[in-house]
Amino acid sequence: MPSPIIAHGLEGVIAGSTRLSRVDGLAGELIIAGYPLEEIAANASFEETTFLLWNDRLPDAAELADFQQRLASLRALPEATVALLRAVAAEKTPPMDALRMAAATLSLGSVEGDANEATALVARFPTVVAAYWRLLHGAEPVTPDPALGHAANYLYMLNGEGPTAAQARGVETYLNTVIDHSFNASTFTARVITATASDLVSAITGAVGALKGPLHGGAPGPALDMVFEIGQADRAEAYLRAKLERGERLMGFGHRVYKVRDPRADVLSAAAEKMYLAGGDMQLYELARSVEEKAVALLAEYKPGRKLQTNVEFYTALLLHGLGLKTALFTPTFAVGRVAGWTAHCLEQRAEGRLIRPGSDYHGGLGRQWTAISERG
Ligand code: ACO
Repeated sequence: MPSPIIAHGLEGVIAGSTRLSRVDGLAGELIIAGYPLEEIAANASFEETTFLLWNDRLPDAAELADFQQRLASLRALPEATVALLRAVAAEKTPPMDALRMAAATLSLGSVEGDANEATALVARFPTVVAAYWRLLHGAEPVTPDPALGHAANYLYMLNGEGPTAAQARGVETYLNTVIDHSFNASTFTARVITATASDLVSAITGAVGALKGPLHGGAPGPALDMVFEIGQADRAEAYLRAKLERGERLMGFGHRVYKVRDPRADVLSAAAEKMYLAGGDMQLYELARSVEEKAVALLAEYKPGRKLQTNVEFYTALLLHGLGLKTALFTPTFAVGRVAGWTAHCLEQRAEGRLIRPGSDYHGGLGRQWTAISERG
């Protein structure tokens, strides 16, 4: 029998098929349900992209109005979810942990069946994040405003005041840019759970746990901290070199699939540039560009042949910071966008109906004989 090929980290393995998104890591292209990311980022509302993922087509005007209304009607949280958030805010629990705990409660309130669960999860994630953020800072949650779109309402619930059109579009561009990305770690987690014939709320709760890690969705906070610590462009090289000499990773760089610049970084850096320009202060944006340039050059020097380029997280940090979001909100806001993609993958996996269960290569001992406890040691 030929010896099996072991793909550590499943690198290079095609673990299934999807119509939801295609990532071309060599060309630096991302397709969302047939549309280039740039088309979606420039034109779509978050509700339209969610509808597209779930239905494989864009809604007409009546369908969109109906979908927006349905999502808006499900934004309010079950009482038990709010009580949980209050209790964990008192313990200063980090927002991603609070989101993971709250996600597990979102089946409450007579939400049953895949379609209803998917809608409630997408509708309620922003409410959970915003309500928790306010509770954590001693403020009361803001009641969702059904007259506002999904993205604008998220900023409204966070800040207690309506965002400008530019701010709302900035966050909407971000949510659309991260909405789906083929079989990334958190999406794959959701698919594995769904494939056992479990429910969507369980699958999404698991996905939140996977997203939290700094090798996945937890990178933008440290990426921004790094830019702030560098402070001015002429300090970038020494700072980054010292980090690489210590064997540390530069957050916001490198990707399992992209070997060229992540196309999402292009979209988000353009959105960030527009926003900082409108705000009249380009200092941070320009500093980030210099840090990026230096980082990519040093990564080529320290890790030749690895093709480590800027990933989505670097400009996520810059854009969300420019929108007034604190660092601790970056990964939860990623989840607010990605939950639509997660649910779409769950629905696709449900239709496929095949258990995901890879094999493993055993490298433990063999032929051991049991020793009674009195004879051990
Ligand atoms: N900084 C320094 N070195 C790096 C970096 C980095 N950002 N990324 C990879 N490397 C190095 C590794 O140390 C390794 O070097 P070695 O072969 O000498 O040991 C080599 O490049 C290959 O790295 P792998 O870990 O094999 O690459 P992998 O595909 O597993 O990792 C990952 C991808 C986890 C994203 C990695 O690039 C990384 O840790 N980046 C920093 C964290 C980050 O920005 N995460 C967000 C990713 S985007 C997202 O998930 C939404």
